[in-house]
Amino acid sequence: MQDAWYDADIERVIVNEEQIQDKTDELAAQIAADYASVDHLLLICVLKGAVMFTADFARALGRQGIPVDLEFMAASSYGQGTTSSGVVRILKDLDRDVAGRHVLVVEDIVDSGLTLSWLLKYLESRSAASVEVVTLLRKPGAMRSAPPLKYVGFDIPTEFVVGYGLDYAERYREVPYVGVLKPEVYTRPKL
Ligand code: PRP
Repeated sequence: MQDAWYDADIERVIVNEEQIQDKTDELAAQIAADYASVDHLLLICVLKGAVMFTADFARALGRQGIPVDLEFMAASSYGQGTTSSGVVRILKDLDRDVAGRHVLVVEDIVDSGLTLSWLLKYLESRSAASVEVVTLLRKPGAMRSAPPLKYVGFDIPTEFVVGYGLDYAERYREVPYVGVLKPEVYTRPKL
């Protein structure tokens, strides 16, 4: 197969497509067992980064025989430069009430943990029956807040990664694997 345009910008692959697929199936099997008695688990996808993982994870749960409902939220963390402040603004709220529902928040990455800590408090204040988190990636070295993470795909180094939903300046979200960008990408003039 011909190299994709983005391959030349990636210095190193951190998690490849097969590893993502295998881990998604493994997490879905574990979660299907844990939620076997729950009627319609509610998946909350945190836009935009989690969109790829949510799509694959929801289908993996479907193959395990677990019916799910899907909701989407978008939040932005106020901060200066690259530092997150932990103060979160809701850009897109839930369309439906979560009161009494068993909720599973689906994240692509937990970095400082500040966004998720805020989000979990918010969902608890909306009277969900239970709230847990599944995240494909976690950066243990970067965490400033330690929200309870029951389901974690991969622990990765504290490096800036793109792909499988994660972006640099809104690009690289469609890359099918997770990788580190070459340093020259950051200094390249924007097209
Ligand atoms: C990313 C990611 C998480 C959050 C994690 O979203 O999807 O939601 O940052 O960071 P934290 O643990 O340091 O709070 P981002 O704000 O980049 O938005 P996006 O998903 O739309 O790219």
